[in-house]
Amino acid sequence: MEIITEISSLRRRLQRESSIAFVPTMGGLHEGHLSLIRIAQRNAKCVVASIFVNRLQFAPTEDFDRYPRTLADDCELLKNQGTNVVFSPDEKSLYPVRQDFMLEPPPVANMLEGEFRPGFFRGVATVVLKLFNIVQPHVAIFGKKDYQQLHIMRELVRQFNLPLEIIAGETIRTSDNLALSSRNRYLSNEERIEAVRLYRVLSQIKWEIENGNRNSHALRQNAKEELDAHGWKTDYIAVLQRDTLVPAQEDDGDMVILGAARLGKTRLIDSLEVSI
Ligand code: PAJ
Repeated sequence: MEIITEISSLRRRLQRESSIAFVPTMGGLHEGHLSLIRIAQRNAKCVVASIFVNRLQFAPTEDFDRYPRTLADDCELLKNQGTNVVFSPDEKSLYPVRQDFMLEPPPVANMLEGEFRPGFFRGVATVVLKLFNIVQPHVAIFGKKDYQQLHIMRELVRQFNLPLEIIAGETIRTSDNLALSSRNRYLSNEERIEAVRLYRVLSQIKWEIENGNRNSHALRQNAKEELDAHGWKTDYIAVLQRDTLVPAQEDDGDMVILGAARLGKTRLIDSLEVSI
């Protein structure tokens, strides 16, 4: 496995590759990221992962400074998984000049995560477009845990005619169903036990919908009340059409339930697909 930090070296290394699958990450790697690497391996000969904690997608109040930076461990995991190339630029390489030319994401980016993290998807879309231009992959893999991000990446590729395919990876969970996240390491022991409640309230909504309950408003309200009663601060619980991420209607077949809530200082998100 090669670890490359300069854009020019990466371009030179990738020139000879006929098919490239790309997994962008911010490091703090876990089995969720590695599952995306395995999907990448099934879709191209050369697998490139990037590790870059992207300042542009963090608000000044957010956890940019304390975001896990575990490059040596990350590279070990990627190497053991059979990744071909790791691209881990420093900020000067990726942003040699102030990045004041930003992508304006579609309106769907202003709700949910975008409502509680203003500017987040501008920062994500901008860095991902840069990374796509640098790596020039044939496929890129994104996880369903960040469902809205996955949706916006699909729109980025579609609306700008980028010559690559987006593939979605299923959410990888612990044995008690907590979605793996780099941020889980912020949780205290007590919070770690409590953290599975987010999955449980989303599962409860899924069960209700599968069993004919279409009162999305009441279902979302109950979920929020249960979280809040256990010390969470809920940002949103939403039941949406899967393909458009607009609120689900009574006759929608394929939906997705999204949730984001804060437990102590840690903000967790999760999502579950549901079909009727
Ligand atoms: P990061 O949070 O490191 O996530 C990198 C990729 O791993 C994303 O596609 C995310 O959805 C996926 N992922 C995270 N946890 C997962 C899990 N439990 N199961 C499956 N996939 C999981 O998302 C970002 O970084 C950044 O916004 C980025 C796209 C790299 C742009 O900076």
